[in-house]
Amino acid sequence: MTNEELLKIAEKAAENSYSPYSHFRVGAALECSDGSVFTGCNVENCAYGCAICGERTAMVKAVSEGHRDFVRLAVTSPDSVDWAMPCGQCRQFMAEFNLDMDVIIGRQDGQFMILKVRELLPWSFNPDNLP
Ligand code: THU
Repeated sequence: MTNEELLKIAEKAAENSYSPYSHFRVGAALECSDGSVFTGCNVENCAYGCAICGERTAMVKAVSEGHRDFVRLAVTSPDSVDWAMPCGQCRQFMAEFNLDMDVIIGRQDGQFMILKVRELLPWSFNPDNLP
């Protein structure tokens, strides 16, 4: 699958976003080493702090289905004024599984950039830090 195709799947996933509070829709598509793809969208809550991001939704879906070998994650938002940058919590969540995962970050005009998790979260606290 091309990066463009994975980003398209993320765009489609944003259609399911439940974001009545921020009105900021996010979609994600996570590819695993066996080729399986898990989608995610952000899901908000009237208790605002309970919201979960699109990226973490996709990762949690994958892990709960027995997949941990993440290869690529595409994220985008039809509402972002610029790149749909992953938040700090999502970066930390990615770092748990693969610092070398490619993160494809989209923009409304269809452009995208690709960064490694280790670039998005340098000097991270990750599983290697634990004794
Ligand atoms: N959001 C994501 O889904 N992913 C991110 O990485 C950044 C923020 C969501 C959370 C909330 O529902 C909305 O965007 C506004 O912050």
